[in-house]
Amino acid sequence: MPAAATVKTVETTPIEGQKPGTSGLRKQTRVFMQPDFLENYVQAIFDVIGNPGNELAGMTLALGGDGRYFNDRAIQVILKMAAANGAARVLVGRDGILSTPAASAVIRARKTDGGLILSASHNPAGEDGDFGLKYNIPAGGPAPEAITEAIYRRTQEITTYRILDEADDLDLSALGETTLGGMTVEIIDPVAIYAGVMRDLFDFDALRALFKSGFTLRFDAMHAVTGPYAKAILEDELGAPAGSVMNATPLPDFGGGHPDPNPVWAKPLLDLVMGPDAPDFAAASDGDGDRNMILGRGVYVTPSDSLAVLTANAPLAPGYAKGLAGVARSMPTSRAADRVAKRLGINTFETPTGWKFFGNLLDAGLVTLCGEESAGTGSDHVREKDGLWAVLLWLNILAERRESVAGILQAHWREYGRDYYTRHDYEGVDKAAAEALMDELHQQLAALPGKSFGGLTVSAADDFAYDDPVDGSRATGQGIRIFFQENARAVFRLSGTGTVGATLRVYLERFEDDPARLGDDPQEALAAVIKAAGEIAGIAAHLGREEPDVRT
Ligand code: G1P
Ligand code: ZN
Repeated sequence: MPAAATVKTVETTPIEGQKPGTSGLRKQTRVFMQPDFLENYVQAIFDVIGNPGNELAGMTLALGGDGRYFNDRAIQVILKMAAANGAARVLVGRDGILSTPAASAVIRARKTDGGLILSASHNPAGEDGDFGLKYNIPAGGPAPEAITEAIYRRTQEITTYRILDEADDLDLSALGETTLGGMTVEIIDPVAIYAGVMRDLFDFDALRALFKSGFTLRFDAMHAVTGPYAKAILEDELGAPAGSVMNATPLPDFGGGHPDPNPVWAKPLLDLVMGPDAPDFAAASDGDGDRNMILGRGVYVTPSDSLAVLTANAPLAPGYAKGLAGVARSMPTSRAADRVAKRLGINTFETPTGWKFFGNLLDAGLVTLCGEESAGTGSDHVREKDGLWAVLLWLNILAERRESVAGILQAHWREYGRDYYTRHDYEGVDKAAAEALMDELHQQLAALPGKSFGGLTVSAADDFAYDDPVDGSRATGQGIRIFFQENARAVFRLSGTGTVGATLRVYLERFEDDPARLGDDPQEALAAVIKAAGEIAGIAAHLGREEPDVRT
């Protein structure tokens, strides 16, 4: 690098479309690649988190991403901007890689002033796919709304950004320290800190013994970021046979796939567990490693059920042996975990969609586990959901109980009853039409109670609002809930992570204390709820669609 790297102040103007959604700023990759788009947003973050006047002086940040297309370019730009804004040190994952939960673990373990995570989660990657950027706070979690709003406001007024002039790109392939301008860049092993956290929580000896006894596992990393993590922990450290981790090499376009671990996008894995060569246990994670899908021989565990089973069994793992303080779930997640929490006499919270709402509850020690129906599960070990953590907790439970996944699930339903659950997504629909559907629903709310739709009677309906018990902030307009007298519920909300048009999500559930009565297929068990929800919202009329694009 030329010794003369100087700070350049570049004039710019606000760029449209920098409002962060459910999980940071997520856009089509080509949008992120527009001139100044990334730079403006990064400077807005630095302006908000920096010290007025001397910017990032004295600050240390973590930096890494899921390795998707543009990750490498964006990392170099962010490093040069961090240096130009006076940061003292940046910890960057080797080759620019950090899974989202690993980034959270690094921020916490190294007590940084937060971090920047580059990811669009499970959204397809590549030049024609999506890209994303998110600032996480020093506690390790996604920035709360007050901060993301401040960043957004800053994007609207920005006139300049700072970047090093004439600095070469850094080689990020070798561990160790180097300097960039006046800043230290520390290239860290992306797996080490995270693996240490897992070692402290779980009984690795018991897991090694489990694999030694012939227990079989398939973990599908879907060509995304969890490959190196799963290989290091499951195969190298715990002794799962080589090849247990599939699609383990992260690719910039995720191999052209859609790394969202659910029965639709991870269908080959689902087919495997339903077929004659099923392993004892199978799981998948998503693009940035924070989601999980849990499967056993012949069985798929819904994320809502998984949260309930983990709540009931977590104390079997050493890290949770003292019991749980409580469990929080996002509002659209089924109420299965609440039943367990009630029985255990621990706290329960219902939060809006998005992991950022769990942070305060975890920081305050009010809950230990959290989960979302969208395949996110986690605990107070980091401040993000954590795919591999969920896999290891399941494995630890299996190692202790020595029962099959299906056996554990059946026993759980016998004890607590079953919350049948499905989510229907209408993707890429016309934005105005989707908003009109939600507006109309809204207007009907007060008139719905007492009315019947295809055999179900509405008992209550509202627009979900959440009062944070820790900081007193209020989040409104978080989704429409319709409750039925028959122990059923339908929830409607628009996605905040899509990048094209709008996506309507309809969440449907029904509780049954004798699961034998409704059979095993959630779509059949929920047929009446699905029909009622369709009628109430006029889905076909508004969206011109008879069927959802995705049912999970
Ligand atoms: C989706 C999920 C939500 C999750 C978010 C980030 O957001 O539904 O649970 O927190 O992705 O992974 P949505 O597109 O529904 O706004
Ligand atoms: Zn993700």
